[in-house]
Amino acid sequence: MGLPAPGLRRQDRVRRAERDLRRRDGAPWEATKERTSPHRDRAGATIDHPRAYDLLSPLFLGGRRRVFLALSGLAGPRRGQRILDVGCGPGYWTRMLARAVTRDGEVTGVDLSPAMVAHARRKAPPNCSYAVGEAQDLAFPDGHFDLVVSSFTLHHVPEPARPSAVAEMSRVLRPGGRLLTAELRAPRIRPPNVFPRSAAHHTREHRHDITGALPELLAGAGLTVEQEGDLRPLVHYVTAVKA
Ligand SMILES: C[S@@+](CC[C@H](N)C(=O)[O-])C[C@H]1O[C@@H](n2cnc3c(N)ncnc32)[C@H](O)[C@@H]1O
Repeated sequence: MGLPAPGLRRQDRVRRAERDLRRRDGAPWEATKERTSPHRDRAGATIDHPRAYDLLSPLFLGGRRRVFLALSGLAGPRRGQRILDVGCGPGYWTRMLARAVTRDGEVTGVDLSPAMVAHARRKAPPNCSYAVGEAQDLAFPDGHFDLVVSSFTLHHVPEPARPSAVAEMSRVLRPGGRLLTAELRAPRIRPPNVFPRSAAHHTREHRHDITGALPELLAGAGLTVEQEGDLRPLVHYVTAVKA
């Protein structure tokens, strides 16, 4: 698949990339319905460089394997389960979860970035599938998944659309199913002002820190918050169950 043409609007780029992927992979495309989202104009900020992201994320997480092993322990995937990873990026966590559910289960990753989905597909084990899609318009039936996870993605969804995204995650969970969401939190100690202006803004004010809003977002979607906590250095997670 070629890179999306820069002159096209996002909506057209997503459609075109989906069509190219479908042609190339003959992938099981049932998971992706016609893109009719009311949020199309404010879908989310994609990351379209999976290889660079694969290199950088271990740095900002302070050890990717350690963090995702800990998050997996909290999410509690079991053999045979159906799991959805919303905003799966290059698919690192989906592959880890796929091992946990074994061949009896299946893991699906959804990401708004066609480049991320194409990259994740290349590395996918047989019980992992991926679709281009948007958190606030998930193309799955009600109650389809035992576990829904979403890591470092909700802050990419524009604030007004976040309740719809979490409502969708809740809708596709079965009763008794669990949701785990993780986000980066601001450092508790302010770093010295030695960074260039943009980096300083990012680290000192940390405009991506939405961790304080997570419990209310989950409760607003009808979920019962179970557990909330931090992982070193800057990860915050919340788990919730659907009644
Ligand atoms: C920081 S990355 C996290 C990737 C992966 N979950 C991880 O933890 O490594 C955020 C991902 O969310 C995707 N994204 C942004 N807005 C989205 C939306 N509305 N729906 C689904 N994915 C979205 C981006 O393309 C990007 O791959």
